[in-house]
Amino acid sequence: MSLLERIQSKNRPSSIKNDASAQREAQSEQLLNNKNGTVQSKEKGRENKRANKSEDKHAELKNLVFKHILKERKKEDIEEITLQLDDIISEIISENDNMPEISERDREDVIEEIANDLTGYGPINPLLLDEDVSEVMVNGPDQVYVERNGKLILSDVTFRDNEHVMQVLEKIVAPLGRRIDESSPMVDARLKDGSRVNAIIPPLALGGPTITIRKFSKDPFTVEDLIRFGTMTEEMARFIEACVEAKLNIFVSGGTGSGKTTTLNVLSSFISNEDRIVTIEDAAELQLGQEHVVSLETRPPNIEGKGAITIRDLVRNSLRMRPDRIVIGEVRSGEALDMLQAMNTGHDGSLATGHANSPRDMISRLETMVLMAGMELPVKAIRDQIAGALDVIIQQSRLRDGTRRITSITEVQGLEGDIIVLQEIFTFQQMGIDENGKIIGKLVPTGVRPKFYEHMEHQGIYLSPSIFMEQGMGE
Ligand SMILES: Nc1ncnc2c1ncn2[C@@H]1O[C@H](COP(=O)(O)OP(=O)(O)OP(=O)(O)O)[C@@H](O)[C@H]1O
Ligand SMILES: [Mg+2]
Repeated sequence: MSLLERIQSKNRPSSIKNDASAQREAQSEQLLNNKNGTVQSKEKGRENKRANKSEDKHAELKNLVFKHILKERKKEDIEEITLQLDDIISEIISENDNMPEISERDREDVIEEIANDLTGYGPINPLLLDEDVSEVMVNGPDQVYVERNGKLILSDVTFRDNEHVMQVLEKIVAPLGRRIDESSPMVDARLKDGSRVNAIIPPLALGGPTITIRKFSKDPFTVEDLIRFGTMTEEMARFIEACVEAKLNIFVSGGTGSGKTTTLNVLSSFISNEDRIVTIEDAAELQLGQEHVVSLETRPPNIEGKGAITIRDLVRNSLRMRPDRIVIGEVRSGEALDMLQAMNTGHDGSLATGHANSPRDMISRLETMVLMAGMELPVKAIRDQIAGALDVIIQQSRLRDGTRRITSITEVQGLEGDIIVLQEIFTFQQMGIDENGKIIGKLVPTGVRPKFYEHMEHQGIYLSPSIFMEQGMGE
């Protein structure tokens, strides 16, 4: 395999193969402008923080390559051009006597960098293709963090300048017919492979254009994966499966990036193939294996600020779609009221996630969210709705060691006076920390059998009572 083929196969995401050639031309034009800008700014002595030391030495070469592409190969396909980069470089070097020596390795780096700019998402392209990286966070041109195996790590990737970040951003949002500029400085978008992107630029983001990419996992985690990671135990998985089967209404609660959506996906995988499932999300992340799934996605407002379709609109609409199960990606606002009403009026077995630090916190957030629906409801009535609707809260956390664990499974037992009674059924018990700093611990029963246990039995779903017994008291 030639050097170029290696870089191509390593770096070229298949998703962008079909870009229109007009767009490509515009991109190379932009890139050339930018290369020129880089040289000028370097002449001004701008500090170049690039980790790749070959940048300084070979900036001129890269600049000439881009000029060459724009002038000589304008009509050619970007894919074709990348295959010829090696030749173009040789040509330029032979035509320019004062070009510094270039080692084979630097040459490889230069080709890779140019190929990334031309066909991919610039310097972050390799990170997007790296399967161990689950999240990419660009904080302006000089700082790119990644999440690798659950840990946040500063990568050695940098952009040339703000302009360079903006070009990558434009490449992300343009195919969606969106734009990002001073008049609309915040955008939610998705890459073609489904990865979720949020971008916010100056003047709102002080440190430069900021991009956060949650990579879409083509192969979502299964219940076996979560058991292997220690997120839940096998008994817990069996318990949760029984809860889903028994059509309990379940809420997954957790902080940002704690793995709520992943757990919701696993929960949804337990839904029977016979059920008609309607999923409602801001950005479709759930990947259900069942046949009968209708996926709905919200829509942001258009440039005039009109035409937005919210989660709440979709929840209301879904009720007219004869759903057996409603799965809501994340409940954030007034849709909570519609969701609770749906749960209380026969739409059992609904699943959702929400942002909170504990089951009790989730309840009070739900109260606030219901108020956001704009109906003047007394607190008692809201609590009544919540207590009647919710059966189980699964609390998920990202622990200090980077692992994601279910830290509590709580039953919502009902209303006593003004108080919603919560009963923890399983709780995370930390036993220590191993030599690698990993937290040792697992979810253990509190010894309380949930009130819905009998309801499960009536439905013919049998769970051994021993799974609710405290350790040492089981079989
Ligand atoms: N149980 C797990 N063990 C290890 N990694 C996980 C686990 N669950 C999720 N992840 C990883 O953590 C990241 C965040 O997961 P996920 O999208 O499910 O979180 P979230 O809580 O829904 O995030 P957000 O608050 O942004 O919606 C993903 O990259 C995912 O692959
Ligand atoms: Mg999520």
